[in-house]
Amino acid sequence: MNERFVRDGFLVIPDFKGHGEVVALRERAKAIVDAFDPAESNAVFTTRDEATTKSDAYFLTSGQTVRCFFEEEAFDASGALRQPKELSINKIGHAMHDLDPVFERFSRDPRLHDLAREIGVPQPRVYQSMYIFKQPRIGGEVRWHQDATYFQTEPLTVTTLWFALERADRTNGCLWVQRGGHRTPLRERFVVDAAGSRLERVDETPWPSDDDAEPVEVEAGTLVVFHGLLPHYSAPNRSETSRHAYTLHFVDAGARYAATNWLQRGASFPARGFV
Ligand code: FE2
Repeated sequence: MNERFVRDGFLVIPDFKGHGEVVALRERAKAIVDAFDPAESNAVFTTRDEATTKSDAYFLTSGQTVRCFFEEEAFDASGALRQPKELSINKIGHAMHDLDPVFERFSRDPRLHDLAREIGVPQPRVYQSMYIFKQPRIGGEVRWHQDATYFQTEPLTVTTLWFALERADRTNGCLWVQRGGHRTPLRERFVVDAAGSRLERVDETPWPSDDDAEPVEVEAGTLVVFHGLLPHYSAPNRSETSRHAYTLHFVDAGARYAATNWLQRGASFPARGFV
């Protein structure tokens, strides 16, 4: 397993989660969205700048709580939802694994602890959870990026767990990866400091071409594990089928976690491991 991970930068493990666990997570996500009041997000369209500032604050303060985020294409020109709320949410983030009992049960899995150790992260600490809906028709594109952009540690240890909660294929916006691309440098860094938040270009290595992209088409229950430097993207979902997925990001407790990472956990709410 570790040899494949070192060579390719990712692993695909079919049937990692059973049908019952997948259904439980989907039902819990639905309940969170049902209870969500859209006014809470403040991200309704006023002026462009004001909306951007408000939605930035809504995001930047979400690391220690559970919030719903809208798809970019969720609203029409008048600011009204184009389709029902439950079909307009882009994701839920970012601390369900610590705050929600159903998400916690799914996330605290001793097999994940063993897996982390096997790929060279002896003391995994889970900083972030995201439930990604990739809604039918409006599910947005996520361009080429590396997840280490958002989780700087010294040395670099961030690893992504991506659980398919529905079949993901080319028609509904599956993951695309550059096999072996984890051996390329970190290109961008998302920094939060006294001057604000920004994406900095730190290396001019170009993103892979589309010819280098490989689709990761998987069934529900599959776990995809990938290295923090692996370039990946997902295309928009223009199909009639959603593509739900759940992700966890962990780093090693022995690595130095950057003070400029957007997501910070203090002593009062420490990041925990899988067991
Ligand atoms: Fe990503």
